[in-house]
Amino acid sequence: MIQIKKAHTQDIPFIALLWKDKLQAPWTEEMIKDSFDKENVVTMIAVSETPENGKQRCVGFLMASFLEEAELYALVVKKIVQRQGIGQRLLENLLDFLKDKNVSSLFLEVSVENTKALSFYEKREFKKVGERPHYYLKEKQENEEGSWVTALVLRKSL
Ligand SMILES: CC(C)(COP(=O)(O)OP(=O)(O)OC[C@H]1O[C@@H](n2cnc3c(N)ncnc32)[C@H](O)[C@@H]1OP(=O)(O)O)[C@@H](O)C(=O)NCCC(=O)NCCS
Repeated sequence: MIQIKKAHTQDIPFIALLWKDKLQAPWTEEMIKDSFDKENVVTMIAVSETPENGKQRCVGFLMASFLEEAELYALVVKKIVQRQGIGQRLLENLLDFLKDKNVSSLFLEVSVENTKALSFYEKREFKKVGERPHYYLKEKQENEEGSWVTALVLRKSL
């Protein structure tokens, strides 16, 4: 069973690892720790209870900042458990939290090449509201220059 919870300091190493593994420009443990002290940043984790020993296992997280509007900094689900509705659960919990805070909309940036995430957000009624050319720097392949990738700015009304 998956539960969505507010993240605590003991979850920071997991968050940093998953962020580094799956997204560009990852935050360090120090940056994540600093964000925990900010009142306008929320971090949630998805935990699975393993049947063998009842121990909790982290399988995903998200982080967003909010004032009148909110920005999703990161949403990542471990590859091995993707496509089982965990991303959806994390996002729903965030949307409920933001509605309670009277936030009007949620923005995010996503690479034009990230087809999984684009499909995920399109199904959840995020709309394209802008483009940021040369936003992500792709890792250099052997004998190649690094190349820049455009980010799409998506928005969902709450
Ligand atoms: C985007 C992401 C968070 C979705 O998490 P998830 O738990 O797999 O999502 P859900 O199971 O709730 O939703 C599944 C939907 O996501 C999209 N999706 C997920 N994996 C996909 C894949 N391999 N191929 C195509 N679409 C995919 C589809 O729209 C899918 O819906 P469908 O199963 O009906 O086709 C996850 O793929 C991920 O962590 N990606 C790497 C990090 C990332 O790019 N984050 C987003 C940028 S902030």
